[in-house]
Amino acid sequence: MIQSSLLKSLVSPAGTGLHVAVIMDGSGRWAERRGWPRAAGHRAGERAVRSLVEAAVEAGIGTLTLFAFSGANWRRPPAEASRLMEIFRDFFENYAAQCHSRGVRVSVIGRRGRLPGALLSAIERAEQATADCTRLHLRLAIDYSARDALIDAAARLAASSDRSPQGFAQALAEAIHEAAPAPDVDLLIRTGGEQRLSDCLLWEGAFAEIIFSDCLWPDFGKAELAAALAEFHRRERRFGGASEAIAG
Ligand code: IPE
Ligand code: IPE
Ligand code: MG
Repeated sequence: MIQSSLLKSLVSPAGTGLHVAVIMDGSGRWAERRGWPRAAGHRAGERAVRSLVEAAVEAGIGTLTLFAFSGANWRRPPAEASRLMEIFRDFFENYAAQCHSRGVRVSVIGRRGRLPGALLSAIERAEQATADCTRLHLRLAIDYSARDALIDAAARLAASSDRSPQGFAQALAEAIHEAAPAPDVDLLIRTGGEQRLSDCLLWEGAFAEIIFSDCLWPDFGKAELAAALAEFHRRERRFGGASEAIAG
């Protein structure tokens, strides 16, 4: 269980459960270090996703966005990209579709037109099966590029009369196939040791606390999530204002 001293950190400024996003990096190296094919790392990464979802439910997180495949990842060898698409399909058919019993709403953000048809059907079935769940919103970012989404949203905004930040956020949500915007990201975790954003949630993460972890994604579990939440809780978020300690 997450310690009670952490509970304060589990509420975002919006008053909803925290929005935690994870750039799940390092699965290829995890396999290579064992002398295994990279696909074995991606398979282990999928198991890590399942256990993180359980941990996120237990921790009371409101929204969990997991970056699984970027628009730029189409530069990978076709065999690796295909293997990933098969693993995603298995995830949606054999896990996400049953998330209703956990109260987990599943959705996918990103472009859909380049995904294999069987994966797309599995995604749509899981989304429909869990549409009324409210305990945790699990968003898988697949063929997702924040820049592409921003460009799409800008075009939508140009055709709209609402040019407010809220109007833009709505246009951005629609650009990634969401009916409404998710709350801003509170905590962004990147595993795998690299310290970069790789085109992840550039608008929604404007005020995110960022944690870079050396842990390779398949090794990231409940204890690592608890440690990241503890670190998040130790930080003072100022949103451009003065420090509480000196503001008086
Ligand atoms: C992240 O792991 C998963 C995807 C980008 C699809 P990687 O496959 O990038 O793993 P490393 O960084 O090569 O170890
Ligand atoms: C970021 O990992 C994207 C995902 C985890 C889905 P990459 O391995 O693709 O990022 P780079 O190439 O190191 O920037
Ligand atoms: Mg990588």
